[in-house]
Amino acid sequence: MKIVVLGAGYVGLTTSACLAQLGHHVTCCDIDPARVAALQRAEVPIYEPGLAELISSQMQAKRLHFTSDADEAVPAAAAVFLAVGTPSNEAGDIDLSYVEAAATAVAPHLAQGAVLILKSTVVAGTARRIKTLVDTRRRRTDVSVASNPEFLREGSAIEDFLHADRIVIGVDDSASETLLRTIYRPLTRAGIPLVATATVNAELIKYAANALLALKIGFINDVADLCEALGGDVLAVADGIGRDRRIGSAFLAAGPGFGGSCFPKDTRAFASTGRRHGSPQPLIEVLIEGNEARKRALAQRIINAAPRNGRVAILGTSFKANTDGVREAASLTIIPLLLEAGLEVHAHDPQPDGARRVLSGVRWHGSALNACRDADVAVLLTEWDEYRALDLKRLAQAMRGAVLMDFRNIIAADQAVRAGLHYHGLGRAVRRPLEVKRGQGAAADLRAAASPA
Ligand SMILES: NC(=O)c1ccc[n+]([C@@H]2O[C@H](COP(=O)([O-])OP(=O)(O)OC[C@H]3O[C@@H](n4cnc5c(N)ncnc54)[C@H](O)[C@@H]3O)[C@@H](O)[C@H]2O)c1
Repeated sequence: MKIVVLGAGYVGLTTSACLAQLGHHVTCCDIDPARVAALQRAEVPIYEPGLAELISSQMQAKRLHFTSDADEAVPAAAAVFLAVGTPSNEAGDIDLSYVEAAATAVAPHLAQGAVLILKSTVVAGTARRIKTLVDTRRRRTDVSVASNPEFLREGSAIEDFLHADRIVIGVDDSASETLLRTIYRPLTRAGIPLVATATVNAELIKYAANALLALKIGFINDVADLCEALGGDVLAVADGIGRDRRIGSAFLAAGPGFGGSCFPKDTRAFASTGRRHGSPQPLIEVLIEGNEARKRALAQRIINAAPRNGRVAILGTSFKANTDGVREAASLTIIPLLLEAGLEVHAHDPQPDGARRVLSGVRWHGSALNACRDADVAVLLTEWDEYRALDLKRLAQAMRGAVLMDFRNIIAADQAVRAGLHYHGLGRAVRRPLEVKRGQGAAADLRAAASPA
């Protein structure tokens, strides 16, 4: 099938490459000419495991093309996916202007019977509004508008697309249902369930799913705080909870507060939609507030552990591992607060480009070890695999102080302590080496140990 995808971001690129892999002929359009020019040379502007390889192989197979001229590609397409951004506005609502602009621009060019499919995350009722907008612009009602929310995660986008738990399609007429079922037939044949429902339900499913996952994260973070107060260990507690099949172990890792391009924005939009429609979502309101407060509280924890004008090494600035995405990452709240407190911040991330563009005042290093050299406090903020394998003895030797704050609980506390480090996980007892390392950081270590976590 001939398909056009509007938007060449994380979702648009993954959708385009995966649909091409399923055998469709895909043209991916973006309004950013530099982005399109790079993609035409098979240069992928984002880091996503396996994506560059998949794009390049599908381009070679001539099933995937890039253009900035949507008007030319759209008339031949049976399906046009809209995967443009839907950022938050100041009130917490999503800004639908990119979706509306893209729909308005393509409306006159859609073939009769074509289906415009909203893949962007949009509030309930948007597909129906876009249908009215498109009909008005065309002065006829011969195309359909459907919803097909995307559940992929940055860092495992291709796997999530091709091996989804389910595909959700929102369809208000049989023509769009038939078309979407045809597009996804290679995946449904392989056993992936497809949920077909009205557009308004599909739009609500996306928000409700993200709100529930974010609640799990917020909940385990609160449990981690309680573990610290009571001398418990959140890893053991999460393990015990997660083995209950009614709950499941996913999204039960305590951390520095959720970030990324979806959870913060989608929870805000969910809460704001509830407020506007007289159906408040108090759990989500509290979650949003607590998540932001957590990032600030952890920054204060670092400040308390470091000597005045001390040096802090930050390991990991992406909002999670395997992505260079930094939208609403904990690092973007924590690092500016450390700098404001007069601390020197040295950082490392295996994919630092996104963070380097938005964080000023940080000294960047090409390796974790170099970032930690002469640091008083080292803070592990992102769960990159390479940090799991850190040589803790060398790290301890390189540092001036001895405090290792592991805000992802990925370092073995015993090994850190044996290496001479003063280990702070989240939701776990502080573990001190038998002999606290001497140096400028040592006094701070003891101060931190005395202060409440
Ligand atoms: N990133 C994720 O993990 C993820 C997961 C699920 C859903 N979503 C949702 O998918 C949507 C897209 O997210 P993203 O992260 O890919 O966004 P993004 O910001 O990475 O990419 C959006 C792209 O759309 C382009 N664009 C804007 N207007 C256009 C137009 N009229 N025609 C063609 N291109 C246009 C922009 O230039 C940009 O390259 C959002 O609604 C988001 O909430 C994102």
